[in-house]
Amino acid sequence: VALGHVGGLLIPDRWTEAVGVTEHMYHVVAVVLGTIAGFCTLAGIAILIYRRRTVGPVFAATTRNDKLMYAVLALTILLGLAATVAANIVGGGYNYRETVSPWFRSIFYLRPDPDLMTGVPVLFQLHALSALLLFCIWPFTRLVHMLTAPVGYLTRPYIVYRSRDEQLGMHPPRRGWERVP
Ligand code: HEM
Repeated sequence: VALGHVGGLLIPDRWTEAVGVTEHMYHVVAVVLGTIAGFCTLAGIAILIYRRRTVGPVFAATTRNDKLMYAVLALTILLGLAATVAANIVGGGYNYRETVSPWFRSIFYLRPDPDLMTGVPVLFQLHALSALLLFCIWPFTRLVHMLTAPVGYLTRPYIVYRSRDEQLGMHPPRRGWERVP
């Protein structure tokens, strides 16, 4: 899905045509691979949500923030898939590379052109809106781990986790406050 978005949104259709890829060829490959990738992504998030709900310690560590993030992420994926299926499999096909893609690129040129999105099928509009909402909350959710790859993990020294309290674990926990020595 990520590669499809780079190919479909960031690379202008003039470039793919210049190397001999016709609109029809692009469309067929995008619909077949996009639909397979979209359903795999949906299956992936379903597995992750199932695990989070059914594995006790994981569910206990789940915050309201996580639930909101899962809802917006799932909505974005569902709307993307719905747009693909509705436009290309149920409908007669929609060339988003003439509208959605130049609009997306116009943001990075710092000359946003929202007019390009006005005539776009509503599912594509809703998909782009929910994606923008997802990007807004991204840094404040667990998804931030995507931007903070633990590159030093392979070379950092071991971390030894042990308690300073020799007594800890040797007596059953008492109710109320522990006395400070
Ligand atoms: C503003 C950002 C985004 C735009 C403009 C955008 C646009 C599009 C477009 C035009 C399609 C149709 C592709 C096709 O029919 O070939 C699509 C499909 C899809 N999008 Fe996005 N998208 C964005 C962000 C995202 C994000 C952040 C996610 C997931 C977290 C996502 C998930 C999907 C999925 C699952 C599909 C269906 C499968 C596929 O065609 O690859 N999109 N999107």
